[in-house]
Amino acid sequence: MKVTMFGTGYVGLVTGTCFAEMGNDVLCVDIDPAKVDSLNRGEIPIYEPGLEQMVRSNHTAGRLRFTTDTAEGVDHGQLLFIAVGTPSNGDGSADLSHVLGVARSIGEHMTEPKVVVDKSTVPVGTADQVRAAVTETLEKRGASVDFDVVSNPEFLKEGAAVSDFMKPDRIIIGTSREDSAALLDALYAPFNRNRDKVIHMDVRSAELTKYAANVMLATRISLMNEFANLAERLGADIEDVRRGIGSDPRIGFNFIYPGTGYGGSCFPKDVKALIHTACETGYRAAIMEGVEAVNERQKGVLVDKIRRHFKGALEGRTFALWGLAFKPNTDDIREAPSRTVIEQLISMGAGVRAYDPAAGKAAARVYGDEPGFTLCERRDDTLVDVDGLIIVTEWNEFRSPDFRMLKDKLKEPVIFDGRNVYDPDYLAGLGFAYYGIGRGLSSLAG
Ligand SMILES: NC(=O)c1ccc[n+]([C@@H]2O[C@H](COP(=O)([O-])OP(=O)(O)OC[C@H]3O[C@@H](n4cnc5c(N)ncnc54)[C@H](O)[C@@H]3O)[C@@H](O)[C@H]2O)c1
Repeated sequence: MKVTMFGTGYVGLVTGTCFAEMGNDVLCVDIDPAKVDSLNRGEIPIYEPGLEQMVRSNHTAGRLRFTTDTAEGVDHGQLLFIAVGTPSNGDGSADLSHVLGVARSIGEHMTEPKVVVDKSTVPVGTADQVRAAVTETLEKRGASVDFDVVSNPEFLKEGAAVSDFMKPDRIIIGTSREDSAALLDALYAPFNRNRDKVIHMDVRSAELTKYAANVMLATRISLMNEFANLAERLGADIEDVRRGIGSDPRIGFNFIYPGTGYGGSCFPKDVKALIHTACETGYRAAIMEGVEAVNERQKGVLVDKIRRHFKGALEGRTFALWGLAFKPNTDDIREAPSRTVIEQLISMGAGVRAYDPAAGKAAARVYGDEPGFTLCERRDDTLVDVDGLIIVTEWNEFRSPDFRMLKDKLKEPVIFDGRNVYDPDYLAGLGFAYYGIGRGLSSLAG
């Protein structure tokens, strides 16, 4: 099939590449010329395991092309996917300017029937807005061309995006038109072989399904963080509690890891957007407001522990910080908890020597000019003249460091572990002061 993908970010690039991998003829359109140039050279602008090789092989085979030419994009595909960003507006609502910009471009250039597919995460009712924007621009040209707008939200995870897309748990197709549904069914058939994963529904239900899924997962994280904060105050260990509740199959182990709050490009904005949508209908989303409030508070717990340990005297101190990405296996630092930690420490007069296996470049773009911030090339380069170690992202290379070397290098043997990567008893045995999240009274000590 001929497919056009508008937007070559984490979602558009993975989706377009995986469709090409199945033999489709895919043209990816992005407004960022630098991105398109680097993709045409076979270099991918993001870190995503397995993606670069797949982009290169499909590009070489001629099934995956990149352009900034919107008109060419509209002309190319029978299916026009919109996979552009939908960041938060100041009031928490989703910024639809990119989505509607693509919709208008489609109306400007469309000369034959098309199926427009919303792949971006968009509030309920957006397909209607996309339809209106296409219709309006068509009418301005005096043109009348048949088209449908389908909702096909994406559930891939950064860090495992290719395998998630190739082996999806479900494929949501929201449309009330049988011909559009049949086209999408055919496109997804190669991803739908071992069991039927396609779920058909109306457009609005599909739009809401995506938000409901992300808010459900964010809720588990915030609730677990609330249990962790309670565990600290009650002298319980949240890691034991986690094992105790996760073993119940009704609860399970996914998304019940306590930490420094959820981040990334999706959960924070999607929780806010659904609260906003609820508000617009006159409904107060009390649980979701709580999820968001707990998360905001949680982002500050690590710095609270650091401040308490040093009795408020952080000025002039420097900390090694391991992990900048919002989770392992990605270079994405959008709304990452590391940013709160860095910004709070710097505002208190402390310095940070940071390392991340993939997100260094992204962090340099944000903090490169910040005098208190030093980006290190290797993990152990962070350990020069520092007062303590802070773990923010649980990359594998942080799991088993040489603790004796660490103890030698740190001015004071203290570790603030925002992901409960280490065993508190083991570290106490080695003479470290150790602060985890929700790990009994020791987490509050100092
Ligand atoms: N990142 C994820 O893990 C994830 C997962 C599921 C769903 N989503 C949703 O998918 C959407 C895209 O997310 P992302 O992380 O890929 O965003 P991104 O910011 O990485 O990429 C968006 C891309 O769209 C391009 N763009 C903007 N306007 C354009 C236009 N008019 N025409 C063509 N390209 C344009 C930008 O230059 C950018 O390259 C969002 O709605 C997001 O919520 C993201």
